[in-house]
Amino acid sequence: MLADNRSVLPDRLTLHRLALGGDTNAFAEDVARGLTAQPKVMPPKYFYDELGSRLFEAICFLPEYYLTRAESEILRQHADAIVAAIAAPTRLVELGSGSAEKTRFLIEALLRRQSTLHYLPVDISDASLERSSLELLHLYSNLRITAYAADYFTALHALREAKSSERTIALFLGSNLGNFKTDEALNFLRAVRQVLKVEDGLLLGVDLKKPAALLVPAYDDALGVTAAFNRNLLVRINRELRADFQLEKFLHRAVYNEALGRIEAHLVSVETQRVRINALDLEIPFAAGESIHTENSYKFDLPQLAALASATGFALQTSWFDTEQRYSFNLFTAA
Ligand code: AVI
Repeated sequence: MLADNRSVLPDRLTLHRLALGGDTNAFAEDVARGLTAQPKVMPPKYFYDELGSRLFEAICFLPEYYLTRAESEILRQHADAIVAAIAAPTRLVELGSGSAEKTRFLIEALLRRQSTLHYLPVDISDASLERSSLELLHLYSNLRITAYAADYFTALHALREAKSSERTIALFLGSNLGNFKTDEALNFLRAVRQVLKVEDGLLLGVDLKKPAALLVPAYDDALGVTAAFNRNLLVRINRELRADFQLEKFLHRAVYNEALGRIEAHLVSVETQRVRINALDLEIPFAAGESIHTENSYKFDLPQLAALASATGFALQTSWFDTEQRYSFNLFTAA
């Protein structure tokens, strides 16, 4: 590392650091607003502090959480067909790239049909972007990377300026679309569309609707990792806002709301209690059984995906599935 904290990057990597860093004020405001609302609610983006991100990685290994394995299976089986659906040469944009492990299937499929590849990953964490980019450059000598450490909308704005004569495939994997409310999903898809030219593609990995008996265990596993992931939100509020949540007095609950097609995660107060949040000078009353609604994970079907595509300037061209038909990979082409 250099003295001013810039790392020395190889020639084939450009890293744009556009993230503002930990915004304690926004967190404090969202906690105050969410815990004084009726019913109480918290945005799921606050799960992902350092421990929360590691707990989510552990979730992806759980026997009950089939989503990650199903997505990898689709990529392993169909990467060449997926890539063939978009004309060459293609550059690859990825929104929320994380470790970019699964991306390797697509990078390799693209490099089988073109000699070089420009990969443009976006992630809020510059540390994980730098780590994953260096690993990819080490593995693929004909890869060039322009990385954006930013929230999605900031990065999409920057990407609008980074036009290319090549076709673009944008990736949004991991069923991340499922954590958006419907209006957020529409806004996000429209912002992605603005970065793309007609006939460019957006590949969306999303989980499919299925019976509650299959869905609920994926969000309420026997080991209690998802419960820890959910309750870590209270640990974070305790640490960052000097609150006194007693963890054993809040239980994780995951329910499938079939009418809305979503798994809802809650933290349920086991008794009547008051929690003090010192940094906000706030005392929050809880009735016994009252919950904080911490996350929605929407599940989709193909008609719904086709409607989302046409409402946002895309057409649903092709869908691929895992062998158990639990998960889907969908190619939206820019119309
Ligand atoms: C990141 N996201 C798509 C996960 C999901 O399935 O909604 C987060 C998660 N929450 C509990 N388990 C996994």
